[in-house]
Order: sequence, then structure tokens, then C-alpha cells
Amino acid sequence: MPGLTLGDTVPNLAVDTTHGKMKLHDFIGDAWTILFSHPGDFTPVCTTELGKMAAYAPEFERRGVKLLGLSCDDIESHKAWIKDIEAFTVLSNLVHCDRRSKPGAKVTYQIIADPNREIIRELNMVDADEKDASGKEVPSRALHIVGPDKKIKLSFLYPASTGRNMDEVVRVLESLQRAAKHKIATPCNWKPGDPVVISPSVSNEQAKEMFPQGFKTADLPSKKDYLRFTHVD
Ligand code: BEZ
Repeated sequence: MPGLTLGDTVPNLAVDTTHGKMKLHDFIGDAWTILFSHPGDFTPVCTTELGKMAAYAPEFERRGVKLLGLSCDDIESHKAWIKDIEAFTVLSNLVHCDRRSKPGAKVTYQIIADPNREIIRELNMVDADEKDASGKEVPSRALHIVGPDKKIKLSFLYPASTGRNMDEVVRVLESLQRAAKHKIATPCNWKPGDPVVISPSVSNEQAKEMFPQGFKTADLPSKKDYLRFTHVD
């Protein structure tokens, strides 16, 4: 993904959203923010994604995270589309009983409009392979998780054909928030409640102080002590 990437500061763009005009840095403030884009309004996969994001909004709020959507169409189109998205959150819950989903969830997060495609270029969200009916660029399914320092901590980049998994968004957020608080990383297939690994930069002496709950070192053939597990909240 050329352009904006991990560690970069999100540009302080002026944007027009379903809730009015604002600057991105004012919106982010000092909170974690999920900025997610969609190829277009009134399209099937996007409708399911925005509906699921609405249903998961309490999960993100509980973790101190703000949500900000983006689709290229204009504000009037977004407002009309939101009615479909909200209706779909009711319909989909009748079919899939999802523990995290609140039936009838409202789209309370803002959605940016970008009819001139200026914002998606700045935010590295352009899909090189997709065009709309008039031949204009459209966004990929990009998702940036931005830290309280306004820097990109994680990015997903999916094509139009593949909807994102919101459980995975919650999972990686849990990982990022723990790694921001403790000198740890989360191993393969980690989920909240599983052990985490202590960062290689932490010596065993430091680890004893940092993790008074203790840690276990894997006994490996190399006898190197780099794989140390502990628990953190
Ligand atoms: C969709 O949301 O379903 C979609 C949007 C653009 C291209 C293909 C699929």
C-alpha cells in the first residue's frame, strides 16, 4: 500500500460528513479511532459492513474507540442509504443471531462523503482495480486504526469482493490497546484472555518487575529464552 502507512500521522483533512463539516484531528482528539472506507452507497457488501459496524458500535465505545466511515457518494445519498443499512440490521439479526449484534442498531457514527475522491487519495484508500459506473476511482475496503497520537497503528486493505470481519477488528484492537499499555505482543491466533508474549527488548530482570504476576519461558531446543508468556488485561 503506497502512501499513508503504519506509523504515519493521519493528515488533518477538512471533511464533510453526515453530521456536518469537521477536521480529522479535531474528530480524533486523543482517542483511538477506526477509519473505514467502502466502495459505494447502495451496494450489497458495504450495506452488510456498515450495518455490522453499527451493531458493534457499543463494543468499540466500551473500548474508548471512535468510528468514522467513508464512502465516495454525497451526503444526501449517504442519508438515504443509512435507512437501508438500519433496516438491514433488523433483517440480518432475524437470520443470524449474533452475540455482539444489537438488533435494530442505528448508524450513529459519521460517514464522510468524497465525491471528488480527494480524501481517499490522501488516506491511501483508492482501489486500483475498481471504478464506478462513470469511470471514477472508488475506495477499497480500507480500515485504518489510528492511535491517540493520530498515527496509523494498523491497516486492513480488502478488495470490493471481500467483506471484512468485525470480530477481527475487535480482536486486533484488543491486541493494539494491550501492546500500547504493556511491553508485550500477541501471538498467532491470540484472543482476549489468552497468554501474551513479552517483548524481546525486555530482559528477564525487567520482566520480573514489569510482570509481577509472573511469566513462563518456553523450553526450546536452542535454550534461548525469547518466548516468554504472561497474562495482562
Ligand atoms: C459491494 O459492496 O457489494 C460491492 C461494491 C463495489 C463493487 C463490488 C461489490
